[in-house]
Amino acid sequence: MPFVNIKKQYLALGMLIFIVLFFFNSRPAFQCQFTPEVTPYLPTIYGITPTYARLTQKADLTRLSQTLMLVKNFHWIVIEDSDTKTKLVENLLKETPLKYTHLNMKTQKSKHSSASGVEQRNIALNWLRGHLDSIPDKRGVVYFMDDDNTYSLKVFEEMRKINKVGVWPVGIVGGMRIEMPIVTDGKITGFNAVWKPFRPFPIDMAGFAINATLFLIHPEAKFSRKVQSGFQESEILKYFTTKNEMEPLADNCTKVYVWHTRTQKPSILNPKKLKHPPIPDDHIEV
Ligand SMILES: *[C@@H]1O[C@H](CO)[C@@H](O)[C@H](O)[C@H]1NC(C)=O
Repeated sequence: MPFVNIKKQYLALGMLIFIVLFFFNSRPAFQCQFTPEVTPYLPTIYGITPTYARLTQKADLTRLSQTLMLVKNFHWIVIEDSDTKTKLVENLLKETPLKYTHLNMKTQKSKHSSASGVEQRNIALNWLRGHLDSIPDKRGVVYFMDDDNTYSLKVFEEMRKINKVGVWPVGIVGGMRIEMPIVTDGKITGFNAVWKPFRPFPIDMAGFAINATLFLIHPEAKFSRKVQSGFQESEILKYFTTKNEMEPLADNCTKVYVWHTRTQKPSILNPKKLKHPPIPDDHIEV
């Protein structure tokens, strides 16, 4: 019966096509089995950010937190300058997918200096020491971050290369376009700072990061209210490094990956003094 024979031929041809297609489609799947994915080790970055209540606080923290969401293996330590933790910061942190630790510490009034963030950074360092003591992997990087600076993702990539203390330029700070270490033959030979250039380390807080394990080796390392303004960076760095030992990053300190931006204090009109006051908005968080 020729009719049936033709049908069988078509069937055989169809099966052949099916088998050929099956093998072509499967090829990438077979290849995958022979190239297991290798994820390189990324040290945890502990970002230490003091913050205080003001009209632009939520805007600043929102912008910073959304940058930090793009950083892998990041742990954010946020310390409020207040007697109690505020709902604003608590809710903001809860709503981020970030790994975080929320602390608070009110600044003590002091005759010595008006430097901000001293007590807050110190309790963050105490928390960090306790944390590192309690986990097996004590490796990491400590970075002191203001809540209104601007951070490129590249600065986080750079600081993961640190052995002890790494440094890099900071944009728009100290009365300069760029404040930076001077690098000669891959070594730091000086700093270009013009504001208090006699500081032992004339660099901004945003311009360096420290190997976290060093804070266990130096339990005495902390910030101090007893030093004059602008000396907090030198105060902490003196425990860990010397000028010659510092590791220049960001292409031998030729690239700017962080900017000391500052949010302007907004001027809000007093509704009570307006002829036509706006509808009340006190129930809405800004
Ligand atoms: C930094 O400079 C040193 C010495 O000139 C050089 O060996 C090194 O490759 C440079 N590093 C980078 C990242 O460009």
